Amino acid sequence: MELNKDINQFDIPLAKRIYLKNPNSILLKKLLIFSPFLIFIFSIATLRLIRNIELDPLNRLKFQVERNHDGRILGHLPYSEIPKEKLVLIEPNIEVHIDMRDSLLKMREEAKNDGIYLVFLSGYRSINLQKDIFYSLKSIRNQEAAERARVSAPPGYSEHSTGFAIDIGDATQRETDFETDFENTDAFRWLTKNAAKFHFKLSFNKDNKYIDYEPWHWRYEGSIEALKVFESSKRKL
Ligand code: DAL
Ligand code: ZN
Repeated sequence: MELNKDINQFDIPLAKRIYLKNPNSILLKKLLIFSPFLIFIFSIATLRLIRNIELDPLNRLKFQVERNHDGRILGHLPYSEIPKEKLVLIEPNIEVHIDMRDSLLKMREEAKNDGIYLVFLSGYRSINLQKDIFYSLKSIRNQEAAERARVSAPPGYSEHSTGFAIDIGDATQRETDFETDFENTDAFRWLTKNAAKFHFKLSFNKDNKYIDYEPWHWRYEGSIEALKVFESSKRKL
């Protein structure tokens, strides 16, 4: 009895439960609840970031390899020479692929009806002729290959060897033949507006990094054979 009395003398407080009432504690509580989701989202984002970092240089390398393996030389794509039996003479010194003859002559006729006089300057060129044009002129003009290639394709790399390319001038302004100034002639303006109707397309526009702008050089894309020949050149330079 004496002992119990002694114990009752002590004032032992009841254990108190402390509730998380302050705003920081509430936030912490929410964070704890949502932490699995946050960790999940964070992990996904990190994985995607790592994948992009790893893939980006690989993709760039793949693109570079594709570009290096499309056979280009100094910006020019390779083209084989058209078999002789597919060539037709449309006027002295101008031969073209038989597939494009009718369309080309029709285009000149339509232009004439509109008062525009187109003149054909160069059609099919053999790989041997292209060799002369490239190397002889390169030497005569004391040019390096890359410089020469801006205006003339190396042999085996000219659209002219396919028979599907034609250089066009304005019969009323012959001083603009093979000159950038051809773009200021009525003939060029007419071609820009109408050539697509006859399946002709400008080959070397102002965006080409390696080859100079050639407003006189058009190619035919009006047959399956022509489309196949030029398919690879559709890739962006
Ligand atoms: N002038 C163009 C690039 C050619 O030689 O085919
Ligand atoms: Zn040309």
